[in-house]
Amino acid sequence: MFSLPVVHLPFDAANPAHWQDRGYILDFLCTAGGGDLLDFGPGDGWPSLLVAPFARHVTGVDASPRRVAVCEANAHRLGVSNFRCIHVPAGRPLPFPDNSFDGILAASAVEQTPEPRQTLRELHRVLKPGGRLRLHYEGLARYRGGNEYELDAWESEPGVTQILIIQRLTEKEQANYCRLQFRLSRDQLAQLLTGGGEIRFDALTTRGLQRARAALTEAVCWSLTHPGCRTWLRWMREVGFADAVPTHSGGRAARRAFEAVPPDSRPADLAGVDAFLRPLVMVAVALEAPAELDPPITAVK
Ligand SMILES: C[S@@+](CC[C@H](N)C(=O)[O-])C[C@H]1O[C@@H](n2cnc3c(N)ncnc32)[C@H](O)[C@@H]1O
Repeated sequence: MFSLPVVHLPFDAANPAHWQDRGYILDFLCTAGGGDLLDFGPGDGWPSLLVAPFARHVTGVDASPRRVAVCEANAHRLGVSNFRCIHVPAGRPLPFPDNSFDGILAASAVEQTPEPRQTLRELHRVLKPGGRLRLHYEGLARYRGGNEYELDAWESEPGVTQILIIQRLTEKEQANYCRLQFRLSRDQLAQLLTGGGEIRFDALTTRGLQRARAALTEAVCWSLTHPGCRTWLRWMREVGFADAVPTHSGGRAARRAFEAVPPDSRPADLAGVDAFLRPLVMVAVALEAPAELDPPITAVK
């Protein structure tokens, strides 16, 4: 949150993460093109607001009214005028005729929908023949080694602490989430759960949870499908895409480039970094990548 270069922070050419993010933006531009684009699930505006200066027009659709408002406000603040964001409740058809867009971008959003395959069907419907969908997604390949658990704890306001527990079932391509809210400071909660130690998944005990239970004010659990590359490819073909290829990521290529170039030879501003990275990213996104890495996918209608 609030960490997107250019959207939230000034671009810093000495920061490898900023190079990586530029690589991701160029990745979308080099695959989906710069015409009339749809960004499915832009959240705060990623990648729409950074792609828009290079595109004819970008339309965002997001299921969260709050995200739509934030995204529109960010566009206004940044002076991006060829962008609009529309609220579309989850599970509803997209409010566009068939063959509306030259290209479609989706970053960590299709897998958040109730039925990702049906979402792909809708994206295929609104894409023009010959148009490309560039899909970035959170596959579970990187969490190899069986079922992985993760716990995040943060004080969302003074005296209120949230815990998010994620269980990743890599073989089932599914993640289960549980968010617990306690009317306690983080330190108070740590005292009850772990006797004052760090709040980690492997430090949780039934006894600790029972001690904290009286301060529990909210508990929400949900499951998401996290398809891996091979599942996406199968679904893309099933819904009618003529071709779908996993390729290397412009973001990763940009990160490697940052590390490979000596500091005094690196470009020093955003325009210089873009000019330096563009040819590299063009090559990376054209090269097929192994499906087991869960790389981004370019699907052609
Ligand atoms: C993990 S965020 C990614 C946001 C942004 N693309 C990024 O990469 O920073 C997922 C986004 O998808 C949106 N989303 C989830 N389900 C959706 C649906 N059914 N239709 C449209 N947007 C949806 C969420 O509201 C959220 O903004």
